[in-house]
Amino acid sequence: MEGLSWRVWLSGASSGLGDALAREFVARGASVALFARREERLKVLRDELVAARPEARVLVQPGDVRDRARVREAVREAEERFGGIDVLLLNAGIGDSFFPRKFDSELVERILAVNFLGAVYGIEAALPGMLARGSGVIVGVSSIGAVRGFPTAAPYCASKAALATFLESLRVDLAGSGVRVITVSPGFIKTPLTDRNRFPMPFLQPAERAARRIVDGIVRGRREIHFPRRLTVPLKLLRCVPGALVDRVLARLLRGKSYRKERGG
Ligand SMILES: NC(=O)c1ccc[n+]([C@@H]2O[C@H](COP(=O)([O-])OP(=O)(O)OC[C@H]3O[C@@H](n4cnc5c(N)ncnc54)[C@H](OP(=O)(O)O)[C@@H]3O)[C@@H](O)[C@H]2O)c1
Repeated sequence: MEGLSWRVWLSGASSGLGDALAREFVARGASVALFARREERLKVLRDELVAARPEARVLVQPGDVRDRARVREAVREAEERFGGIDVLLLNAGIGDSFFPRKFDSELVERILAVNFLGAVYGIEAALPGMLARGSGVIVGVSSIGAVRGFPTAAPYCASKAALATFLESLRVDLAGSGVRVITVSPGFIKTPLTDRNRFPMPFLQPAERAARRIVDGIVRGRREIHFPRRLTVPLKLLRCVPGALVDRVLARLLRGKSYRKERGG
């Protein structure tokens, strides 16, 4: 493995993809600040990382990404302890099924607050330091679900589309500043988030493989990291297909299914 001297701030490190990313970064020599709400899990992870690589610098930072002040404080602490942040990895995220007949805007607010605003708070906290140093990489974990609004996932798809679009603007705004912006758009990854899904998840991949692809993509300076390509490329092409046709096909595929699920059927 190549040696990375990167100093990484990683949200959503206590489980799934974030846990795998922390292991991948540390295995390659990076220093990592682990941010999530479940402190005990972060401590166990920190102990495992340091046991595997005693020279590793690993910070445990309990907190909620919806808490703007706490995010700012944690980023500042990481900057002070590491001497700066090279990679800001905005991975914390949640998802839940959404049924229009039981319309719940609280769920929409919760998902947008974590998946979109939580990432925005991270960028707000870390960007000044990166701009001052003239270098840094902002990596946002969006989803292939951002490509179109998929059924029963309106808040999740909207939150990931908001993040992807925000990063798209930022990438251009920051061109020439030394700060790069990367959007990660994965297909299905086996994590506690997807363990709850009862629908088929084509090309489901292990979190370790996904983490490797993401770190490889950052090393190679990609602007977008999407995988597995046999799923993400066809899905991206859906953008070019007339919306009315996609709506009809999705409705036919799912005919009545989401309504039946809503009623417990
Ligand atoms: N799994 C997939 O198929 C897939 C596909 C595309 C994109 N993604 C994205 O990948 C990211 C990681 O998801 P995952 O699959 O690894 O899910 P996961 O295992 O449920 O992990 C989610 C992580 O986010 C953290 N988190 C949730 N709410 C938080 C909050 N309010 N403040 C701080 N941290 C919070 C959780 O930690 P705490 O609960 O300890 O706070 C946990 O560490 C998400 O953004 C997800 O949308 C996943």
